[in-house]
Amino acid sequence: MKLFILYENEEWMLPIRAALHKLDIPYIDWHIDEITYIDYDTPPPQGVFWNRMSPSSHLRGRSNFAQKTSHILRWLELYDRQVINGYSSWQLEINKMQQYLALIDAGINVPRTISVFSPEEITNAAMKIGFPVIIKHNCGGRGEGVEKLDNAKELSHFVEQRRSQSPDGILLVQEYIASSEPYIIRVEMIGGSMVYAVKVSTELGYNLCPADSCASSLAQICPASGNMERFSILSGFQSHVLKRYQEFMQRNNIEIAGIEMVISRDGEIYTYDVNMNTNYNSQAEQNTGHNANETLALFLRSKLGDAHSLPDL
Ligand SMILES: Nc1ncnc2c1ncn2[C@@H]1O[C@H](COP(=O)(O)OP(=O)(O)O)[C@@H](O)[C@H]1O
Ligand SMILES: [Mg+2]
Repeated sequence: MKLFILYENEEWMLPIRAALHKLDIPYIDWHIDEITYIDYDTPPPQGVFWNRMSPSSHLRGRSNFAQKTSHILRWLELYDRQVINGYSSWQLEINKMQQYLALIDAGINVPRTISVFSPEEITNAAMKIGFPVIIKHNCGGRGEGVEKLDNAKELSHFVEQRRSQSPDGILLVQEYIASSEPYIIRVEMIGGSMVYAVKVSTELGYNLCPADSCASSLAQICPASGNMERFSILSGFQSHVLKRYQEFMQRNNIEIAGIEMVISRDGEIYTYDVNMNTNYNSQAEQNTGHNANETLALFLRSKLGDAHSLPDL
């Protein structure tokens, strides 16, 4: 059985490939650009497929990535291929509002959010929610398009400027959750279990991508970040919300995810981002005994072991 990895960002693959090599796990790189058509009459190759596509692919020049990936995943599933983070999980990855609705459906608390389909509605939505508000793209990642607006003046400036657009044209206006300390918690889940939780400082802005490549590019923009523990692992993190996360993932066929939460000043947990395409920060892992890429590689190997070839339709 072969493992095919559908991906688009080379940089994020490096630590994953290293972990797979270390354990001698065979895999095939399946770069999204190599797939130039899908003919649904043709069966996909036999194998286990892992979707590593990112909702921020448009920032790296791939404007049709959302639909293209949807076509590929549905095609694989039509032929009963085993897909890790397959079609239903991808629909939540590229659509934050759907993600929130699915979280609410699983009994998880999310910040109040209004999706707006026309710029005129941004002001109405902000008035309903009350300042400060967070504006974010319905499809995005790495903090792209995320802004906090504190008052009506900032809001009208934002509306006039009409900055970057979500690839689907949909903006979300969201309740801002103030926390007593400037950090969020990201819970890394693989195969239904928590690997660890990581505390991420929010003092340097909204791109909280833990990948080593993202963290080092941030260090170039802000030299001070090099001296700062931006990511730190919380050993033995416990919360009543973890059980809900497991249920949410199971219901939506999500096997690998980094789930982000913020704790409000009155101690309430708000979950606001689920990253099926998740990355791990090696600096934070140092001296903790954790190696999430290795846990991931072991999980992928177990999937290869479980998979049985099914006859083509
Ligand atoms: N409702 C919110 N309240 C407070 N901070 C928020 C809220 N939403 C987002 N943020 C901050 O912005 C960052 C990026 O937002 P997020 O929804 O995770 O977008 P992305 O998918 O681009 O990572 C978060 O990690 C958090 O620090
Ligand atoms: Mg996020």
